[in-house]
Amino acid sequence: MATQEFVTHSAEETIALGRTLAGMLAPPKLVLLRGDLGAGKTTLVKGIAEAFQAASAEDVTSPTFTLIHEYRGPQANLYHIDLYRIDTPRQLETLGLDDLIADKSVLLIEWGEKFQRFERERDVEIALERVNEKLGERGRSSENDRHIRITST
Ligand SMILES: Nc1ncnc2c1ncn2[C@@H]1O[C@H](COP(=O)(O)OP(=O)(O)O)[C@@H](O)[C@H]1O
Ligand SMILES: [Mg+2]
Repeated sequence: MATQEFVTHSAEETIALGRTLAGMLAPPKLVLLRGDLGAGKTTLVKGIAEAFQAASAEDVTSPTFTLIHEYRGPQANLYHIDLYRIDTPRQLETLGLDDLIADKSVLLIEWGEKFQRFERERDVEIALERVNEKLGERGRSSENDRHIRITST
């Protein structure tokens, strides 16, 4: 198990990091994106999608309501999934995520840790955190700082 840690200071830096990280995400992969609302999970996906030539950063938006966004690139099909509104195994089943798992697939799942199955099956976990929350009021960091930790099995 390998862990890498990064700090970014703006959304643009997180997008750039996503572009770099895409090199670790050759399909097939199941990637869990962890972190509070506004941590930067969707922002990171913008860079990943760009690196796979699957979408431009502006075209990647939160799948909060549609639950799954698909971006197709020459080497991989990206599925950006948001399980924030999914609570029961039954609801999860309805999404049919099993049908998306394929040789060319990269599943990027926000709030996947709500379901044990994804904790077990994930290949890579990317955890994003506001640095401020860790340092407290007197910390010197800006509200745009994010701590990003990547763990791969
Ligand atoms: N360093 C940073 N990395 C990522 N997003 C940042 C950063 N600094 C500020 N932001 C802002 O925080 C918000 C992150 O939103 P989003 O990526 O949708 O989060 P999530 O998907 O985790 O809920 C965006 O408005 C983004 O512009
Ligand atoms: Mg999001």
